Amino acid sequence: LDKETHYSFVVMGAAGDLAKKKTFPSLFQLHLGRLLPGSMKIIGVDDPKFHTDVTSVSDFWEKRLREYLEKQKGWVNEDVESFKQRLHFVHVQLDQPETMSALDRRLQELAEGRAKEHRVFYLALPPFLFAQAVEHLRERCWSKTGWNRVVVEKPFGKNGAEAAALSNSLKKYLDEKEIFRMDHYLAKTLVLNLLTLRFANRELGHLFHCHHVANVRITFKEAIGVQGRAGYFDGYGIIRDIMQNHLMQVLTLVAMEAPATLEAEDVRDEKVKVLKQIRPIAPRDCVIGQYDGYQADPDIQKINLKQGYASRCPTFAVAVLYLDNERWSGVPFIMKAGKGLEVHQTIVRIQFKKAPPSSLFGEQPQNELVIRIQPNEAIYYKMLAKMPGLTQQARDVEQTVLDLDLKKRFELRRTPEAYEKLIHDVIQGESHNFVRRDELEQAWRIFDPLLTTLEKEEKREPERYTLGSRGPLKADMLIDRMGFRRYTVTGVPGFAED
Ligand code: BG6
Repeated sequence: LDKETHYSFVVMGAAGDLAKKKTFPSLFQLHLGRLLPGSMKIIGVDDPKFHTDVTSVSDFWEKRLREYLEKQKGWVNEDVESFKQRLHFVHVQLDQPETMSALDRRLQELAEGRAKEHRVFYLALPPFLFAQAVEHLRERCWSKTGWNRVVVEKPFGKNGAEAAALSNSLKKYLDEKEIFRMDHYLAKTLVLNLLTLRFANRELGHLFHCHHVANVRITFKEAIGVQGRAGYFDGYGIIRDIMQNHLMQVLTLVAMEAPATLEAEDVRDEKVKVLKQIRPIAPRDCVIGQYDGYQADPDIQKINLKQGYASRCPTFAVAVLYLDNERWSGVPFIMKAGKGLEVHQTIVRIQFKKAPPSSLFGEQPQNELVIRIQPNEAIYYKMLAKMPGLTQQARDVEQTVLDLDLKKRFELRRTPEAYEKLIHDVIQGESHNFVRRDELEQAWRIFDPLLTTLEKEEKREPERYTLGSRGPLKADMLIDRMGFRRYTVTGVPGFAED
């Protein structure tokens, strides 16, 4: 990176929760990995009205960052010192645009007369502030000597119409190429691996087809509830929080055809193509649930009091999606997401068709290709093998696993956090792991009718489930109806419950 170029990484909403938990620890990791441009300054920006306790960069360090950054592994004191050298803190009030001009002057000072200045604006702000922030940035704080990039993160509205309104207001000030819509699931190690798995391994790719696949499951489970975030969560629910974005992105990568190249627009064109082939979800193909104890959350009690009825917000949902194309015709894609469940895990499970009972081996379990996104990233194949021993009979056949555990195989100390990868991508100008406007529109088209029916027409009451359980029984019954069968692999440590 040339010496005449200066980089500013501006985090708006720097004193808030997202910034301290995700953005700054990721910047610190990139710093430790020597992956940030040497001249890059990191400027935390916030409004003094909302965070009266942070008035200087040292406050910012002590009261927000220190605890989260020191928790990271692999640093020595010099790393912390050199990171602090990059760090600045500036007050900006969106209702006082001249404070934005002051930020611009500060960024210019920090550039110390270098010929080119590139700026990333990372909006760790609530979405209702995006348009206003972008308007002022564009008018008062835009680099004229280099590129400008704006990072935003969901929620992008509560439905397609709101998302479109938000996109339109950003479009007034920004070119689509300047907008980086973040979905951190796209940068999880094994989500990044999906295209390689399918298209670098040609023969494996052919298995992803209705000729072979009985059903596909995409499951997100979190063991914790909505602690501390109930105020936000209740307005959105699990379908908008996890399915419409994170799981939909995963589904797209599992189902899409090979892109013409790995360039951003080619990948995203292909994603949009498959999204257009997905039917809106039928309300009868969806079960929603809410864990016991949700109503006892003090924030929910306040909401209930205000609205005059008990929240119907789902903390759990199963929905079945169908794709109308040749490859996937008739294959149910079963999406499941829930909080307060029995484990913390995100998995893609391709369950293959049952072989007809064979004269050699009788009736056997179905094979599965499993992509464990988290925890402990792995790809494994549940397949049949003859158990070692002297006999060779049908009963010696057992389902076992061919297992690629990424950390063990590549002897990794750690795999990068999704936010690290995405922040690095923004600085490099790599946009294929960010969501394009038309992808977002398509994702809403698939979920909008379901949400309207659940919330406005049926006013459906969620099924209750016990905190720490598998979720409501009705959900398992729906999954069962879709033809999914659960097979337990015995005798292989780590897979007994699988
Ligand atoms: C966020 C959701 O987008 O993703 C949270 O708002 C959820 O509710 C989180 O907990 C899950 O992300 P991860 O990376 O921890 O699986």
